[in-house]
Amino acid sequence: MKVLVVGNGGREHALAWKLLQSARVQEIFCVPGNGGTARMERCRNLAMSVTAFEGIARFALVNNIGLIVVGPEVPLAAGITDYLKEQGLTVFGPTQAGAQIESSKAWAKELMREAGIPTAESAVFTDVRSAIAYIASRPVPIVVKADGLAAGKGVTVAETTQEAVEAIEAAFGGQFGEAGQRIVIEEFLTGQEASVLAVTDGLTIRALLPAQDHKRIGEGDTGANTGGMGAYAPTPIVTPALMNRIQREILEPAIATLNHRGIDYRGVLYAGLIITPAGDPKVIEFNCRFGDPETQAVLPLLETPLETLMLACAQQRLAQLPPLTWKPGASACVVIAAEGYPDAYKKGSPVTGIEAAEESGAVVFHAGTKLKQQQLVADGGRVLGVTAVGDSLEEAIAKAYRAVDCIEFDAMYTRRDIGHRVLTANPYL
Ligand code: AMP
Ligand code: GLY
Repeated sequence: MKVLVVGNGGREHALAWKLLQSARVQEIFCVPGNGGTARMERCRNLAMSVTAFEGIARFALVNNIGLIVVGPEVPLAAGITDYLKEQGLTVFGPTQAGAQIESSKAWAKELMREAGIPTAESAVFTDVRSAIAYIASRPVPIVVKADGLAAGKGVTVAETTQEAVEAIEAAFGGQFGEAGQRIVIEEFLTGQEASVLAVTDGLTIRALLPAQDHKRIGEGDTGANTGGMGAYAPTPIVTPALMNRIQREILEPAIATLNHRGIDYRGVLYAGLIITPAGDPKVIEFNCRFGDPETQAVLPLLETPLETLMLACAQQRLAQLPPLTWKPGASACVVIAAEGYPDAYKKGSPVTGIEAAEESGAVVFHAGTKLKQQQLVADGGRVLGVTAVGDSLEEAIAKAYRAVDCIEFDAMYTRRDIGHRVLTANPYL
């Protein structure tokens, strides 16, 4: 079978890498892919945008593509799945209606309310005055969220009412364009965050191993929010008992309610959770796609062939699949970014040491690289995701950092404390 993967991040490199391990997968095409997918055997990049629906459909039909896997939220929210399915293609990823679970926070909140899913108390506003009037009577910290997609930048955790007012004014002032013309204001939840990615065919939902990522740029989880600076799985804070509760209290009600609304949701449902100090899971957001870098950490542990799992979702026969199987041990992914990220950063520096890193026992997923006259150069904010598997989280993390230390490019930046919440001591700082 030939598979087409839409996207160009570390997540898509990891998806293509894992799919190629399935005996049934002959070849992968990535739209547009990156320097990592360009260098993988049996993998080819196609120079098209992720929203070039027509071009993607034409290529898939002419080349007999058996499965299309959509990585990022933007094409999903723009209706790529609806378009490709109409052409008779098999797609892993929800329709535009399903993708609203990520593309509108107000919509997701309403779904959670209807489904009885535990989440932060919240209210929705479409004008500055009523939003400001609401926060006047609320305690701080308080969370202000642009309703629509804002490339991970739409959330402000305001420590003071003044900060919240500024976030409200900025959103309605056009900081996030249309995405900020409606906002959700939400109670601040305390606890540890965890990411539970689950796959679903619209009827049955199965969770992957629970992961945690580090969203902040700075060590000790400080500074600006990013797409994620490192991740590990399985995280011990999500015990098997807690996982059962997440399945029953969050994942199953979400799918049942989507179904009740007539939405046929096939793909990933990603629950971004806070585990409260009392040990209860609450949803802070849903995403309609795989997490990045979480996917880079989770997939190396998956034993069930990924294409089998995805086809079962796309063809609505997930219930017939035996339980997912996983390698024992743990996995960790350390992101190497370009200095300056998530703000301005330099592109184009030659990247060296990847072979040495892989010889040390890691897999290096490319997030923002490209091949320039056969030379690999940095081409994004997050450049690489260095991933290693070990018998324990300690071992996986140590192995990932040994591999990170083989890699060099001008002005690279890595957090040295990935996994600090679950390690007893941090020997890497
Ligand atoms: P999101 O874009 O929804 O993932 O939010 C970005 C980050 O904001 C999350 O990873 C959390 O760290 C934080 N956040 C969002 N909502 C809340 C909340 N209700 N309470 C505490 N922190 C939150
Ligand atoms: N790592 C967070 C996300 O993918 O949204």
